[in-house]
Amino acid sequence: MYQMLRPLPAEEERFARLLETLRCPRCQGTFSFERHRQKQPGLGIFGVLRCACSERPVLDAIPVLVDKPLVARTHWSGEAETRGRGAAELCAMIRDGRGFEALLDAITVPIVAPHRLRRLLPLPDSIWESEPLLRFGGWLRQRQLLSRLKKPRDAQSARDWLNLFYGRGSPLSGALYNYFFHRFTQPRYLAALSLFTLLPPSDKPVLDIATGFGHFAHHLQNGEVPHPVIGLDFNFFPMWAARRVMVPKASFVVADATEGLPFPDGAFSGVTCSDAFHFMAEKTRVLEECDRCVDNGPVIFTRVGNAQVLPPDGPVELSPGSYRALFAGKTLRMFGELDLVKSYLRHLGPDLSHDARPDELAFDKYLSIVVFPDGELPPRPSFERWPHCVGVLGINPLYAARPRADGGLDLSLGDMPSKWFALQNAAALMYLPQRTTITRADLDAMKSGQMTPALGALIDRFVVIGMPSGYATPRADRPSRSGPSNVHEESPVSAA
Ligand SMILES: C[S@@+](CC[C@H](N)C(=O)[O-])C[C@H]1O[C@@H](n2cnc3c(N)ncnc32)[C@H](O)[C@@H]1O
Repeated sequence: MYQMLRPLPAEEERFARLLETLRCPRCQGTFSFERHRQKQPGLGIFGVLRCACSERPVLDAIPVLVDKPLVARTHWSGEAETRGRGAAELCAMIRDGRGFEALLDAITVPIVAPHRLRRLLPLPDSIWESEPLLRFGGWLRQRQLLSRLKKPRDAQSARDWLNLFYGRGSPLSGALYNYFFHRFTQPRYLAALSLFTLLPPSDKPVLDIATGFGHFAHHLQNGEVPHPVIGLDFNFFPMWAARRVMVPKASFVVADATEGLPFPDGAFSGVTCSDAFHFMAEKTRVLEECDRCVDNGPVIFTRVGNAQVLPPDGPVELSPGSYRALFAGKTLRMFGELDLVKSYLRHLGPDLSHDARPDELAFDKYLSIVVFPDGELPPRPSFERWPHCVGVLGINPLYAARPRADGGLDLSLGDMPSKWFALQNAAALMYLPQRTTITRADLDAMKSGQMTPALGALIDRFVVIGMPSGYATPRADRPSRSGPSNVHEESPVSAA
């Protein structure tokens, strides 16, 4: 029995609501859904969606609406990095009761020889990347996955899954592990949280385009103003993990945002898209589709690369002037990242009173662009409770901890996880203290969901933050391998 794949609470209702909102990206028709029982017992929702023009698989409650095979794709160009199956083959497998096999393949990122081994054994790339070795790497990964899937959700963390997809021995390894694992207090993250205060309260969902591992879905879904979320991405495996370990209440869809959005007009109260718009070649199409699918709310593109500042972030970045031209005729505001971070630190949403000219943003590597489809600028929002304490309180995993004699912890920022991470997130030094301590009493308060003035002060400095339950360590108790200095332990109760 694969405990990790047991249906999630309220999964049926959520999937029914998602189906109502879904349209074929090609013919815009509605779908009917044939559910299929799978040979593997105890699985969630598997089946086939049908519209006038096509059939699409649903794997573990995630509709797959891409025409290309279901593979791992690079974030910036969409190139395939693994092998995968096409929609017709996946539908046939699901009809045949082999949905578990199809799912396993969709989340298999084969194990490849790490660079260190390649340096020690200098064989030609054609051997390291040969078919038999790749197949062996896929087989090894599936052994790993099978043992993981047998464990209950509570016994594994989001970090475990990030490690599997982006850690050593994965063809996707590189900066992505640090990028995702240490996402919550990056300057760009706080910039986005400031912008997201513009989203109006509504029963309609927010569409999070290029949702990745679901970090923002967690914030949107569980924030002070909770928004139902539909996450969309062309990569299946991060969304599958997002649904299973980050935001079980959100819905997810595999689709390519540049090929038309699979939703009807006015379906959303707002659209968010972080760290991805500049990777998309067909920006006008994406923009038109966002406009069509949003019902008066804002369309927020955050962390959009500026081609005028090197190094380039992908091949199709534009300059601030060209982004302006692309959005011509729309009511919009453009921001540099640092201004938004400063707004966040002052408990404020973005300042909409100033319409920044492209030359004012010439030296900002990362921009944010907010479009107001109804032409109205709302008043500047503010917030009482920090958005970064949404979820379960724990110590920011960027901090290393040493136990103190009194049972508290000495915390130090120390080295950043990598030089690239340090460069990209240098502005975090503006608000993260190098060293601090937490007393035993405050640790106990954090674990039992109590608030104390000292804990509040640590939240103010981003040393204590909110995370999805079981983000850095599993929710279920397990003996700590690193002894009492295992600070990634989290409080089981929501932050006050
Ligand atoms: C750098 S990650 C950002 C993830 C997430 N938005 C965040 O900020 O944490 C970029 C994401 O964009 C997705 N992506 C890139 N181009 C896309 C496209 N055309 N359609 C859907 N997803 C896309 C990638 O798969 C990846 O998950």
